This record gives sequence, structure tokens and C-alpha cells, in this order.
Amino acid sequence: MQNKTGGAIDAPKTISSKKSGGLDAIETASRDEIAALQLDRMRLTLQRAYDNSPFYKAHFDRHGVHPDDLAGLEDLARFPFTVKSDLRDNYPFGMFSVPRQKLARLHASSGTTGKPTVVGYTQNDIDMWAQVVARSIYASGGRPGDLVHVAYGYGLFTGGLGAHYGAEKLGCTVVPVSGGMTERQVNLIVDFEPQIIMVTPSYMLSVLDEFRRVGIDPASTALKVGIFGAEPWTNSMREEIESAFAMDAVDIYGLSEIIGPGVANECVETKDGLHIWEDHFYPEIIDPDTGEVLPDGQKGELVFTSLTKEAFPIIRYRTRDLTRLLPGTARSMRRMEKVTGRSDDMMIIRGVNVFPTQIEELILKCAGLAPHYQIELSREGRLDRMTIKVEALADAATDKARDASRGELTHHVKSAIGVSATVQVNHPGGVERSAGKARRVIDHRRAD
Ligand code: DLL
Repeated sequence: MQNKTGGAIDAPKTISSKKSGGLDAIETASRDEIAALQLDRMRLTLQRAYDNSPFYKAHFDRHGVHPDDLAGLEDLARFPFTVKSDLRDNYPFGMFSVPRQKLARLHASSGTTGKPTVVGYTQNDIDMWAQVVARSIYASGGRPGDLVHVAYGYGLFTGGLGAHYGAEKLGCTVVPVSGGMTERQVNLIVDFEPQIIMVTPSYMLSVLDEFRRVGIDPASTALKVGIFGAEPWTNSMREEIESAFAMDAVDIYGLSEIIGPGVANECVETKDGLHIWEDHFYPEIIDPDTGEVLPDGQKGELVFTSLTKEAFPIIRYRTRDLTRLLPGTARSMRRMEKVTGRSDDMMIIRGVNVFPTQIEELILKCAGLAPHYQIELSREGRLDRMTIKVEALADAATDKARDASRGELTHHVKSAIGVSATVQVNHPGGVERSAGKARRVIDHRRAD
């Protein structure tokens, strides 16, 4: 069967059929066309994984399923999940469906414990990835000819190189700055006048601080769009960044196991959740406890099956990210609601479930506090204790003002979440910074 993009699993052909207006044809296709393409590609992916990956052959056999069991998209639910420990157990190259010599690139994510998880790409995979990131930048408002400042880390992390290849593919001029050296970031933004910046939202706040430190108005730059992801961030954070820089801030989502950045992206015209590039990544939402597939609209754990990957087809990967699927708006493809937490990040404090993003919302309500924060959890006897470390804004850093901010945030946390927290308001610059993903939670209880 030929699909509307001209090939079966042949990812690079997808983008060749551009419509006027710069969108890929599939971005405005009907749901039936999208589903037909997905089924076609899903069959091939299952077969490819079964035939070429010893892991998947054994995994499917053990669960008594075969690629022929897939008659419709809903039959995917019969296949077993893939989880992060499968990648660790098959470290480094045991998950791949092609010989190592056919890989064009490897990436890896460090994680906090144990071996890193390794992912591999053929040249076709790299091309497909560039295409979905190009599509993401376009959805964000980027256009060929724009200058793109990439401050995601380059290296084994997928952020820098993923953004880089996508921006080049779209026809942009890329400045591969990587993370860190914040003073230089500001100089380059002022001197080169990029229209687009791609960076973690938490590091963008450090860049913002640096603008203020050197006395340059952040709203005076040429930046029109920021494409922020790799970590959860709230709509309150969006407002903070948008008003400081006078720019649009849009959300980009992805994970290395699926490809890297560019699995889903918001459209700048609606900013109403992230369109999943469903022609390459098939989403499901499951109940994290039972594994049962939930209908669109219900919140649960996001699971992905790759539809076009060659080196590392991945079937029903449990992301641990919590969200819900929503119908398409600016594009036909379904949206995922902004991810505000991973099941791993959920803190259980005296029996109450709390996500760091809930605390972020409350901090941003306090006029005297900067948006940087870190949460420390400890245990005193049998009682959990949460310490929220924040810092005062420069013009609210007197002892009296910091006391007032401490009272305000303590009150917000108690009334909105129902737990008593110890709030520590540091002087400006007193909260740990990261040039990439922020470390929001330090849990000392795990060492107990
Ligand atoms: O963070 C890929 C990426 C790079 C995405 C740059 C966007 C921009 P990993 O290091 O494998 O890959 O981490 C993936 O980060 O499962 C989520 O928990 C989290 N994450 C990524 N994007 C978002 C987002 C990259 N927009 C993990 N919102 C994922 C919330 C995100 N969480």
C-alpha cells in the first residue's frame, strides 16, 4: 500500500510534499488519512523489530504476540510495553535493529543511577529527526532565513544536535552556542540578533538575570520566539518569559528513547498544547497502575511507538510523563496537554502528592520572588519535611521584604496544597543554577 507521502516506512519522503504555506501535507490531512498511514507504518515497524531486534523477538514471543496480530491500530494494546530498564539491561547496543556499523550516530542520557541509556540512529533516522524538528520550529513561528541561537547542550544529550539539524533543515542560520557561559550568551544575542532561541526554560531565566545584571533591556533584543523544553515548565513561567523578552514562548517535547526533541510541539498561533507528530510517533495514554489504555481526554501516562525509525524501533515505550490527548486544532494531529510532571517527579509529602510545577505556580504568584527554585525533602523521625529554596528579586532583598515573601509563599503552599513547608528566601543568586535541565528536587529521604 502506498500512503499519501509516497512511501511505506520511508520517513524522509514525508516532508517532500509541501503545501503552500510551508506545512507538510500530512499536517492538515484528515484523521482517516493519518490513521491509514499510521497502520501501514505500525505494521512495518512491528515486523522490522521482530525480524531484526533479538530483544523484540524474545519480548513478543514471551508475551505470545506476533506482528500479524495487528489488524487495526487498537490491536497495539496486545503488545507488551518497553520500559527504561529494558534499555539498561541491553546496554549498550542490544536494542538495535541494525548492525552497529549501520549507525550514523549514538546519543545517551545519563540518568541519576546506573548505566546511561544509549540510543542509535541510521542516516535516515537523522533525516527524519531533522524534518520533525524543522516542522516544530516552523510551528513555533520560525521561517527559513531566521537566525537560531541554540543553547541546548551539544553532546550525548539530544537537545543541541537535534535542534541544530532541524534548524538547518528549515533553512535557518544556526548559532551552535550550547549551554553555559551565560555572559557570552547575552553578548551573542545582542550582537548577532537571532530571531529564535532554543534552550531549557530554566536556563532562559539565567540568561534573563544576566541581561538585567549588565543593564540591557531583554525586551530590546531581536528575539521573537523561544522554543523551550526538555523539562516541565508552567504557563506562569511562560508569561514571565514572554513579558520580560517581549517574545512568544512555545513548548517543544521529546525524549531520547523516541528520537530527541521534536516529538511534539506547540503552534505559536494557538499555544494550546503540543501537536504530536503522529505520522512518526504513535501516542497512547495508559493507566500507570494497570497498563490499560485510556480514551482520549483522560489523564495518564504517555506511551509512544515509533512508526518510521530504522535503527531503534521502539514499541509502546512508557515515558513516565503524565498528560492527556486532545483533538487537533491548528493542525490535524492530536495534541498532548503540557506535561507538568513525570510520575518519577511526584513527591509524596505526608501522604499528599505534589509536583514541583505546583510549587512553581505558587512562587510565581509572589511579587518579591525570582522564578528560580529548588525543593529539598528530608525526614525527621517519621515526618516528611519539605524545604523550598527560593530567592528574592533584587528590589525585594531586604530582611523585611524577604520575611514578607517567606510568609506569603508559606501561606500559598499551605492553602493550595495542604502541607506545611519550610520556605528559605535566599539573596539574589542564592539558588543553584544549571545550564541545562534544572535539578528541582533533592530527596534526602532516599538515603535513609
Ligand atoms: O530532554 C529531549 C529534548 C531536548 C526535548 C530539548 C525538548 C528540548 P531526554 O533527556 O531523554 O530528552 O529527557 C526526556 O524530559 O521524558 C520529559 O520528562 C522531559 N521533557 C522533555 N521535554 C519536555 C517538555 C530530552 N516540553 C524527558 N515538557 C521527557 C515537560 C519535558 N517535560
